[in-house]
Amino acid sequence: MLLRIPHVLTPGELAQVRQLILEADWADGRITAGSQSGAVKKNLQLPEDLPAAQQARHIVSVALARNPMFVTGALPKSVYPPLFNRYGGASNYFGDHIDNAVRTHAATARHVRTDISCTLFLADPASYDGGELVVQDTYGEQRIKFEAGDLVMYPGTSVHRVEPVTCGERLACFFWIESMVRADAQRRLLYDMDMAITTLRQQTLERALQDGSAGNSSDTPEIVRLTGCYHNLLRMWADV
Ligand code: NI
Repeated sequence: MLLRIPHVLTPGELAQVRQLILEADWADGRITAGSQSGAVKKNLQLPEDLPAAQQARHIVSVALARNPMFVTGALPKSVYPPLFNRYGGASNYFGDHIDNAVRTHAATARHVRTDISCTLFLADPASYDGGELVVQDTYGEQRIKFEAGDLVMYPGTSVHRVEPVTCGERLACFFWIESMVRADAQRRLLYDMDMAITTLRQQTLERALQDGSAGNSSDTPEIVRLTGCYHNLLRMWADV
């Protein structure tokens, strides 16, 4: 499932993150690449132990945790601490690759299985040419270049690349998620069901408010049962 989550960062948080990381010392992006991806990777990356990286990571992590769409789409069990990259000038592309299946966090030696890959865009798309994230999925190639502050979530199993940035600079945050539900198809089903139930509840509440019948709860027996089905599927599939 490829999912766009708009406005993950507020304009204030976005400005803060940009200021923190733009002033820091950047390194060659191959510091976190495997041998296949390292051969096609040419970008810059912020070393994760820098104080600026830690502060920016904290802002992003707080924003993710409060975002209901992120939580329901990812069902996160463990999130790899967000990293930051930039593409521009001579360090301007990342060719086709699949992300490593397991990332080990250097500071904690904790393993994260990369069920989901995420990119949080940090630059105004009008400020650079190229730099699309191209993800191959069953519907063909998806070319992604979102507004600053928006996030894309896609299966870690996908072949993907970042197109060369030919003008300006692409700034982004990226990270991986180990989900409580390992299979993408199951996560998608749960996400669709959760979204449909949420809309159904809102519609039912609005109707009850209109005809003055809203008491303590406007949930119908059918909504209760559907919500139960969601949780029972999650119980069957979740690994926590
Ligand atoms: Ni990648």
